[in-house]
Amino acid sequence: MTILAIETSCDETAVAILRGRNRQCGPELLASEVASQTAEHEKFGGVVPEVASRNHVAQLPRLLERAMASAKITINEIDAFAATSGPGLASSLLVGNSAAKGLAIGAGKPFLAINHLEGHLLSPFFGCEKIEPNIALIVSGGHSLLVNVRGVGDYEILGTTLDDAAGEAFDKVAKLLGLGYPGGPEIEMRAQTGNAKKFDLPRSMLNSGDLNFSFSGLKTAVRYLLPKIVIPSEVEGSRHESLKVTHRDPSTHARDDVLADLCASFQEAVIDVLREKSLCALQQTKSRRLTLSGGVSCNRALRENLRAACQKNGIEFLVAEPWLCTDNAAMIAFAAMLRLENGIVSDLAEEIDPNLALR
Ligand code: KG4
Ligand code: ZN
Repeated sequence: MTILAIETSCDETAVAILRGRNRQCGPELLASEVASQTAEHEKFGGVVPEVASRNHVAQLPRLLERAMASAKITINEIDAFAATSGPGLASSLLVGNSAAKGLAIGAGKPFLAINHLEGHLLSPFFGCEKIEPNIALIVSGGHSLLVNVRGVGDYEILGTTLDDAAGEAFDKVAKLLGLGYPGGPEIEMRAQTGNAKKFDLPRSMLNSGDLNFSFSGLKTAVRYLLPKIVIPSEVEGSRHESLKVTHRDPSTHARDDVLADLCASFQEAVIDVLREKSLCALQQTKSRRLTLSGGVSCNRALRENLRAACQKNGIEFLVAEPWLCTDNAAMIAFAAMLRLENGIVSDLAEEIDPNLALR
């Protein structure tokens, strides 16, 4: 069984070809192509939907050809075509979805509509024989979710964010600090040399008694802290309160040190909440396995912190390699393969859904 999958839910255009398992070995990834549009959106400080969909249209044919060439197969050897059908940006989802449907019709093969969140959620098991029950923490630019995973397609949402997603908080705080987009890697890099105890930032909803998150208060706390420690930008026409190099007390820290401390303090606040809520979810469900997925799971401090907490509590911890954590089509192909193995295919009339929920 060979599956071609397309992912265009946001600002990454991706195509992957996955050859299914047999009894001897697991699935083989024949091709995985990702074209990131980060550079196109960076100047706007975030993703511009119209720019994203135009780029998907421009990139997709090239990526499809490249994937087929590196997999060394012809279209007739593909048994099913899959695409992310939501959640995501409507005009972006439409591009990949229409292309996959067109290919499926042309080749006379089945089409599978895949939930982007299911792709993330299953990615820690990429290549494994079996999806073991687990508590999944999905942290991306659009979502922060705790999910009780009983098996493929059997998901119970335990908690979600009430406002900003974890990745969104990284992106917004990076913007406040005048750093580049996406903010996660920028903050992580600066946090490495920072003192996480320097600034006392809130751990919102830590004791709320439920498994929901809130990150907008943390972002606001950083916003209010800024004028106290640095002079706001005097750059004319600056749309956001990026920082000027000047510092009120030149004897204490250079600007870079202040930034590093702020990034480390912010990152630790996010990690503390994610860890404590995950441990609560494990305790409530009596689960002994935690998986971590989504773009924010590239963050090494988060990975190590959760790994250590799980080890201390006798919990198995699984996280995918970083290339599988940010948006890609290999995870979509893997989710499609698991569905196909269970005889599940989608109707060609199935529409994209920008707000598709995980069920
Ligand atoms: O899963 P993803 O690629 O796209 C969505 O489905 O949203 O996640 C993108 C998010 C962005 O918010 C980005 O800032 C964040 O993942 N991210 C990180 C890191 N790398 C990416 N956040 C924290 N630390 C990182 N190293
Ligand atoms: Zn994603």
